[in-house]
Amino acid sequence: MTSLIDGYAVLVTGGAGFLGSHLCDRLIGEGREVLCLDNFVTGNKQNIEHLLDNHRFELVRHDVCFPYYAEVGGIYNLACPASPRHYQRDPMFTIKTSVMGAINMLGLAKRRGAPILQASTSEVYGDPTVHPQPEIYTGNVDPIGIRACYDEGKRCAETLFFDYHRQNGVSIRVARIFNTYGPRMAVGDGRVVSNFIVQALRGEDLTVYGDGSHSRSFCYFDDLIEGIMRHMAHPSETGPINLGNETEHTMLELAETVIRTVGGSSRITF
Ligand SMILES: NC(=O)c1ccc[n+]([C@@H]2O[C@H](COP(=O)([O-])OP(=O)(O)OC[C@H]3O[C@@H](n4cnc5c(N)ncnc54)[C@H](O)[C@@H]3O)[C@@H](O)[C@H]2O)c1
Repeated sequence: MTSLIDGYAVLVTGGAGFLGSHLCDRLIGEGREVLCLDNFVTGNKQNIEHLLDNHRFELVRHDVCFPYYAEVGGIYNLACPASPRHYQRDPMFTIKTSVMGAINMLGLAKRRGAPILQASTSEVYGDPTVHPQPEIYTGNVDPIGIRACYDEGKRCAETLFFDYHRQNGVSIRVARIFNTYGPRMAVGDGRVVSNFIVQALRGEDLTVYGDGSHSRSFCYFDDLIEGIMRHMAHPSETGPINLGNETEHTMLELAETVIRTVGGSSRITF
């Protein structure tokens, strides 16, 4: 197992997205060379615009469903539409991105002898029957439902990671990311934190489903980025590891916090 190979660029797939662009920032801040690869299906050039003039930053428009080769010293594989609104728009593209993207990036890691981290998801647990979910819990996923293109795609990617590791000795890390929020979340991607904030900023009422008592954990982006970078730096730790905030909050608490913070005349509707 290896750590990032010094002297070579770090490849960040999905680098123009919400989390990918923050990861690019951190890597550049640490003096690394960064190759940011994205097809802009949900990413945004504005997220990485400030990096374009940096001589250690390079942007490549490419789709991970197709093979890619570059002399890289490590790979963070983040490319994948992440919100239900986006990943359900073209389910076949979503599952191809996870599966073909994993095969192509693992092939590159194998050729380069470089470590690779997969941005997996808490959704690999599906509709869990165990709370909270330990990493050994194998999940409860519907393979034919409308979320399967994302959940099963990510599960298959994890399978590929561990088979490349066992069969070819590829140095892998698998991080199962729980809800993360922060600046650069796309305004219209339908995730609950950005939904509430946008509704409050527009002075609209905040829509809470049910009685608002169901809870989620919310991790701030910089903690998450710190987590995946520490994971990458740990050559003996393949994971999978759960990454997120241990504390849960109800949807009602979240809505109240957003209204209090944003101010204005929004109310909560059920
Ligand atoms: N944000 C979260 O709460 C969360 C939770 C669990 C897992 N994740 C995972 O973390 C990763 C990043 O999520 P995010 O929130 O930044 O989402 P995002 O949509 O902002 O970023 C994903 C990026 O990947 C790019 N992309 C998608 N398909 C691609 C393809 N085929 N080829 C090249 N680029 C492609 C998009 O254009 C975008 O820039 C995703 O893999 C996601 O599944 C995120």
